Amino acid sequence: MAHSLSPRIHRDFAVQCGVALEYTAIRATVEDFAATLAMFARGGGVGANITLPFKQAAFALSARRGAFAQRVGAVNTLTLEAAGGWRGDNTDGPGLVRDLTDRHRLDLRGRRGLLLGAGGAARAAAFALLDAGVEQLVIANRTPERADALADAIGEPQRAHTRYWEDLADCGSFELIVDATSAGHTQDTLALPFAVLAPRALCYHLSYGTAASAFLAWARVAHAGQALDGLGMLVEQAAESFALWHGMRPQTDDIYARLRAELPLHATD
Ligand code: ATR
Repeated sequence: MAHSLSPRIHRDFAVQCGVALEYTAIRATVEDFAATLAMFARGGGVGANITLPFKQAAFALSARRGAFAQRVGAVNTLTLEAAGGWRGDNTDGPGLVRDLTDRHRLDLRGRRGLLLGAGGAARAAAFALLDAGVEQLVIANRTPERADALADAIGEPQRAHTRYWEDLADCGSFELIVDATSAGHTQDTLALPFAVLAPRALCYHLSYGTAASAFLAWARVAHAGQALDGLGMLVEQAAESFALWHGMRPQTDDIYARLRAELPLHATD
């Protein structure tokens, strides 16, 4: 779905900012990713957003990287540099924080957060949330070793540490719960105890549409203060990428409102 929405979002930004732009989706396979990108550059391509599962490959072939992408280990935005070679950035994390703080007016500072998942999406979220002032982040993942690896990469044991999923009922409550797993894509439901939810907690799924619906339904049943999907994050990460490419950050409220009208948050109740 993100694959089909991004061209629309970028076209809206281009019209708004008076930039001539052609933004289309290109399919690739893991095997031919580098060759596809080279062909894109030969055809005049100067910037690319990279979706799953290519963000690590994009990281690997970036000649230079932004500091945030370097820490996360994944790249979703490539920019062709004047001297040739790609610069890799990660706008997923900043996009998440923008959505939470600017659109939803949340103050993340001092919050205790629970991050579910430890894949690429979770990594970007973890670094961005900690940068934005989340006081403590507990990371739980189905495969605990991946959560440990993420906590090690963060390297702030006082602020970011892991717990076993089975122990979540005994970990206290959290004011912010972020689902960064891909369980929803396979219609799997997560076994989550209601005890993790602090009063008025914010529950956020990094995806949207059906991938987010089981988690958001859980959050509403558990009386979360807010249950949000990642549509706003998608728009904001696109705006961050657009700003890297064109040097101006578009306004995101109108396109978000239009997409939200088509993808209501509670449509799957
Ligand atoms: P992404 O880049 O989207 O994060 P990923 O690297 O494949 O994709 O990571 C998917 C995440 O969702 C992982 O944390 C994965 O847990 P594992 O590390 O144990 O594989 C998590 N995930 C996927 N399906 C899940 C399920 N049914 N229950 C719990 N976690 C799940």
